[in-house]
Formats: sequence, structure tokens, C-alpha cells
Amino acid sequence: MSKTEQNLQIALNGEAQASIRYRAFAKQADKEGYSGVARLFRAAAVSEKVHAKSHQCVLKAEDQIIAELDSEENIAIAIAQLESEGCIKTTAENLKAALDGETDAFQKTYPAMIRDAVEENALDARHSLEYAMSIEMVHAKLFKKALRDPADVQTPVYHVCPLCGHTVENQSPNKCPYCGVDSKKFIPVD
Ligand SMILES: [Fe+2]
Ligand SMILES: [Fe+2]
Repeated sequence: MSKTEQNLQIALNGEAQASIRYRAFAKQADKEGYSGVARLFRAAAVSEKVHAKSHQCVLKAEDQIIAELDSEENIAIAIAQLESEGCIKTTAENLKAALDGETDAFQKTYPAMIRDAVEENALDARHSLEYAMSIEMVHAKLFKKALRDPADVQTPVYHVCPLCGHTVENQSPNKCPYCGVDSKKFIPVD
């Protein structure tokens, strides 16, 4: 297995875990009455799933992990496990943890993986990793904003790009500014 293939596998696992963690954070935010933050976490969860699928597609790996992410039953079990392990804190703490995770991903993990992909001339992997890195930056901004005042997050519907995971509040742009996909194809998350 090349370094890039190893990296993609690590990134795939990380994105899948993040997607589930955000679903758990969304549940907690709803419990605390922060419905806007819950929606943001659900949108980010969809986005991380897009990243996981993209990495999996480049890897041509078995789609066991994706199948688990597509199963609400599995997600409910995974959320219950996170809750029983004490991994789900208050919404303010969850937002901080999410912000730290995203920041680490776009500042350290993904740049190092992209350097490896460039070195190994792995173009598809590089694109998948670059999209994910760019969008983690978008998520970090959204979490940072939400952290300032969780009660003030009022976006009714988020839109997630099905190709790169770009996550936008309210109306989608005409085209995804990151990958060029038509905004009509964005996935609405409420
Ligand atoms: Fe993210
Ligand atoms: Fe996109």
C-alpha cells in the first residue's frame, strides 16, 4: 500500500467518525434547545460523509464504512456508544471540540497528506484531499461563529455540495465555488 493509500484510509476513517460524532453533537444541541446549532452539526455530518465517500471512491475500497454511515440504525447505535463513553459534553464544549478537530485537519493532517499525494503523483487522491481540506476550513468558520453565541444560530436550511462537501447557510451559490457543481444539486439539510 502506498503512503497515499494509507493516508486516504486514515482520512476515510476520520471523516466517518466525524460524521457520526456530529450527529451525536446535533442530538445534544437539540436537547439543549439550540436547534440552529443542531442543524449546523447535521449539515457538517452530511459534508463529512461526502468526504468519506470521496476518499473511499479514490481508494476503491470496500464500502463497509459508507454502508454504516448510510444506516440510521447503525448511527443510532454509534451515538449511544459515544454517549455511554462520556464523549458528548455540553453544546459549547462540543462546538469547541469540533472547531479544534477541523482546525487540526486543515492546518496539519490534510496538508501533510496532500504533500504525500503530490510526491507520489496521485492526482485523484490529491483532489479528494484538497476538497476536504478546503471544506474543513469552511466548517471551522461556521463552528467558530456558532461558538460566539450558540443561541444566535438561526439558519433554517443548510446546503451541502454533493461533490466536495461545501457547506453553506441558506441559499446555495449558483455554482459551488470549490468544485463547480450546479447549486441545484446541493443537498438541503434542515
Ligand atoms: Fe468538517
Ligand atoms: Fe463543491
